Amino acid sequence: MDAITMIKERRSVRTFKNEKVDRELMKEIVDISRWAPSWGNFQVGRYTLVDDKATIERLGIEGVNGFVYNINTLKEAKGVAVLSFVKGKSGKLDQDEYVTSKDSSWEVFDAGIACQTFCLAAHAKGVGTVIMGVINDESISEIVGLPEEETVAALIVYGYPDEKPVATPRMDVEDIMRFV
Ligand SMILES: Cc1cc2nc3c(=O)[nH]c(=O)nc-3n(C[C@H](O)[C@H](O)[C@H](O)COP(=O)(O)O)c2cc1C
Repeated sequence: MDAITMIKERRSVRTFKNEKVDRELMKEIVDISRWAPSWGNFQVGRYTLVDDKATIERLGIEGVNGFVYNINTLKEAKGVAVLSFVKGKSGKLDQDEYVTSKDSSWEVFDAGIACQTFCLAAHAKGVGTVIMGVINDESISEIVGLPEEETVAALIVYGYPDEKPVATPRMDVEDIMRFV
């Protein structure tokens, strides 16, 4: 799959086949995701992969703030990647001070790049994903036992697609770009 096709044809998938994705394949997807760029090449993104039914159920009950849409997707899910990042690094250079007005926001920026890289890698390998931002970071941290130095960025539900979602609309290029 070429890069343009990969970018254009990735869709959020919320209905999955009743089949777990092999851990080796998920390891390959994370192995590809490692190549995402990051602030200072600090590589703060972390992936905690959950493929245990009871834990996924708990994520649905306690991890998505009661948002029914996400609860229903998680009922279907065979796997969930908890995307987290190591706090307090991105945005800094040699000193322990943030060097731009965005302060620590760069760590979320890094997590976003890691997230998209993971989703594209998964898509290229035939695995569907949906990113979830309506989540409860603290509950999820507790459920998966996240290390103290990390915080949750997003959930990425994954599995073999059992739907082919139609393309979601996009704004026109003229509406989102300008030359100066
Ligand atoms: C930061 C972020 C948060 C999102 N949160 C959710 C969510 O909580 N639940 C959900 O079903 N989809 C969520 N999505 C998926 C978007 O709805 C989806 O990407 C968008 O509608 C475009 O569709 P596409 O991914 O199929 O191109 C999220 C996407 C992003 C990037």
